[in-house]
Amino acid sequence: MTLATELAPLRQRIIDRLEEVLPKSEVAPEHLHAAMRHGALVPGKCVRGCLVYASGRALGIEVERLDRFACALELVHAYSLVHDDLPCMDDDDIRRGRPSCHAAYGEATALLAGNALLLCAIAEVSGDRESSGEQRSASIDRLCQAAGSFGMMGGQQLDIELEDAEEYQIDLLNEVYRLKTGCLFHASIMLPTELVQASPEQRDALDTYARKIGLAFQVRDDLEDMEQDAQLASDGTRPTYPVLLGVEASRKKLSDLGVEALAALDVFGDQADLLRSLGRWLTSGSADKVP
Ligand code: IPE
Ligand code: IPE
Ligand code: MG
Repeated sequence: MTLATELAPLRQRIIDRLEEVLPKSEVAPEHLHAAMRHGALVPGKCVRGCLVYASGRALGIEVERLDRFACALELVHAYSLVHDDLPCMDDDDIRRGRPSCHAAYGEATALLAGNALLLCAIAEVSGDRESSGEQRSASIDRLCQAAGSFGMMGGQQLDIELEDAEEYQIDLLNEVYRLKTGCLFHASIMLPTELVQASPEQRDALDTYARKIGLAFQVRDDLEDMEQDAQLASDGTRPTYPVLLGVEASRKKLSDLGVEALAALDVFGDQADLLRSLGRWLTSGSADKVP
């Protein structure tokens, strides 16, 4: 089975769940609900949600049990993009090939829609009645830590502060990427470990895989930006991997991250094959093309 064939039904599960969880745009306040749906339902690759399913599969968790967690990760991600595109942030009018949330619904509504999407994500995780209270708190805590000031939001802040920093070193870039992208990838892969008695070996393996894949995603993104538009990498904004390391060394880094991520999964059998395929996709093929 190809990765595309494997991912299609998982993406559909995420979309179905988002449809169910997000208030309909006919329900008041209509404009806010329409903006939330726009932010979350304009289809993306759903990488984070698919990683939840893939990690859950490696741990032997049934797909139905994972739906709300995959949905929660995509909601947090959607919120982050709605806010990232705002005029006070990256000021982008296009997202996923369509008008960004504020371009379609106005800045104030987009701000509220982003906040509401984040809260929907937390409600999704807290609504899991199959977990014990302790497991639920651990899941909520993991999601909040990954999204908050010590995670994705912290990375966004660092990115803003360092935008014009002249002495940008690779360690600093790694830290920005770890926070702004890596933390949500990590949460996607580690959340399922809160639902079962994952062994320390399994947790360590998934932790290593998650760290490698999270960074690889950004290195790949940097390389693609450079291939698409050489200007992007040298227009005076924050440097990228190819700017700091060179294209060849960045490609080598990406490939090494892929090898290391897959090697970490050796403690798992065939059940981790979807994680392996996702790892290969994210560290070699074009991550922007739906496989
Ligand atoms: C875009 O993430 C933002 C970054 C972290 C670089 P994705 O490339 O996963 O975006 P969608 O969800 O597929 O649109
Ligand atoms: C997107 O970051 C937002 C987060 C990672 C939280 P970028 O600004 O680097 O990505 P694009 O180019 O808007 O998708
Ligand atoms: Mg942006």
